[in-house]
Amino acid sequence: MTSGVAHAPLAQIDTPLLAVALSQGSTVPASLADLDRASGGVVTRAITSGDFKGKRDETTLLYPGGAKPARVLLVGLGKPGDVTRNTIRRAAAVAAKRARALGAKHFTFAVPLEARNGVPPRDLGQVAVEGAAQGAWAFTELKKAAPDEAKPEVESVTVVCDQAEARDVTAGTRVGDAVAAGHRLTRYLQMLPGNVCTPTYLADRAKELANEHGFAFTVLDRAQLQHEGMGALLAVAQGSQQEPRFIVLEYRGGGGGGGGGDAAPVALVGKGVTFDSGGISIKPAQNMEDMKFDMSGAAAVLGTFETLGRLKPKLNVVGVIPATENLPSGTAVKPGDVVKSHLGKTIEIINTDAEGRLILCDALSYVRRFKPAAVIDIATLTGAVVVALGQVAVGAMGNDEPLLAEVRDAGERAGERVWPLPLWDEYRELLKSDIADVKNSGGRGAGSIAGGWFLREFVEGYPWVHLDIAGTAYTDGEGPHQTKGPTAVGVRLFTEFILKRAGA
Ligand code: BES
Ligand code: MN
Ligand code: ZN
Repeated sequence: MTSGVAHAPLAQIDTPLLAVALSQGSTVPASLADLDRASGGVVTRAITSGDFKGKRDETTLLYPGGAKPARVLLVGLGKPGDVTRNTIRRAAAVAAKRARALGAKHFTFAVPLEARNGVPPRDLGQVAVEGAAQGAWAFTELKKAAPDEAKPEVESVTVVCDQAEARDVTAGTRVGDAVAAGHRLTRYLQMLPGNVCTPTYLADRAKELANEHGFAFTVLDRAQLQHEGMGALLAVAQGSQQEPRFIVLEYRGGGGGGGGGDAAPVALVGKGVTFDSGGISIKPAQNMEDMKFDMSGAAAVLGTFETLGRLKPKLNVVGVIPATENLPSGTAVKPGDVVKSHLGKTIEIINTDAEGRLILCDALSYVRRFKPAAVIDIATLTGAVVVALGQVAVGAMGNDEPLLAEVRDAGERAGERVWPLPLWDEYRELLKSDIADVKNSGGRGAGSIAGGWFLREFVEGYPWVHLDIAGTAYTDGEGPHQTKGPTAVGVRLFTEFILKRAGA
């Protein structure tokens, strides 16, 4: 999807669909007067009749004869005082989803000044494009669609603003375009089935990204993992015919005191389990197909690199992805087995379904060589986080309060909410093993924290945050602003985090 910026009276805009976002309880804003007049008062009637109230996600479709736009879609923003960049992004997504349903290849998005609640023009441009791309997204690649249900792609969005703010809005749309591209890649990778999106496939895509944007690229195969001593990752991989891959991308955007570009990097570590059957501790059949999404953390890291490659912020960033399948077989790791991690600690594998922490712990130990300024891992790690926070928030844990606050702040700007869970010492008890340094599963209580504490056992010498996205990586129902399936959670959060650190 491409984006553009236009400054013209709304009544004069020739577009198949003009979406106008309005907050609750508004009368017809002055900036809609020309459109209203040209269309014989159709906007006034929609509002004064009470048919359109401006509630969040509410929409009313109008056909304004006399004005240039073929259709006008009023989109609710909710209460005027609650309007933020997140509500505007969401309204753009609602509009885009509707545009797709209407078969409109292009649409135009306007938020009248009166409805913006002070959201600056640059943010408007960014979130309008982010939302439009999110709402218009659909996965069609594996369908030979019947002609009558085939809907064209939404090819472009135009953001309307005043002439004086056009420069800032355009600067924002450039960020929005880059985020949208990352988002698109992530959702695509998430959606691909496990027989297509294997560890090798992920590595190939990472290499393509590296070639396209000039990142350094390293990949380790099974033999090299043995050489590195990644016993925990290898234990998960040993049940599968698919070769594991350990993928490293390095973006050098510079930054740092002397201007030498040698500042300590931020490392992003993404769980890349391309299918999680549970292994010998096998999962129930119900919804097991969703476990193709168990590489959503890896996909978020790759999507972030797509965004980075386009934005080129002044910061060094390393992306690390341990990738494997988790399958049962005659060669699979068994409950009770003890393996040696990359860090050297031994792990008793109580439950082969707690595999995410096993592959991440070796990655967290590997990243020490980069002397990172901060490490953030992202993983569909525990079903327990879905119980705790539902599909609304990402669960966060870490060893550094300022970094946790920085990540939560980035999540707030990104519209990807992050909520902290405690890693108090008492919880360490959950992981005590009779025969090894640590065990990989703690039992019934505090499941997400046990996962976080396990990872912490392998974090040495850097500030670290763990993001559990098991509840937020995909949705099982349709929403007004997005289609059912993958959400690309993490891409926007990481982008906001990096841009702020880079001072952009
Ligand atoms: N990939 C799952 C977590 C998951 C659950 C993701 C639901 C998305 C939706 C993870 O590998 C897992 O199986 N975790 C276990 C850990 C337990 C065995 C300690 C879980 O949450 O049940
Ligand atoms: Mn599992
Ligand atoms: Zn898993």
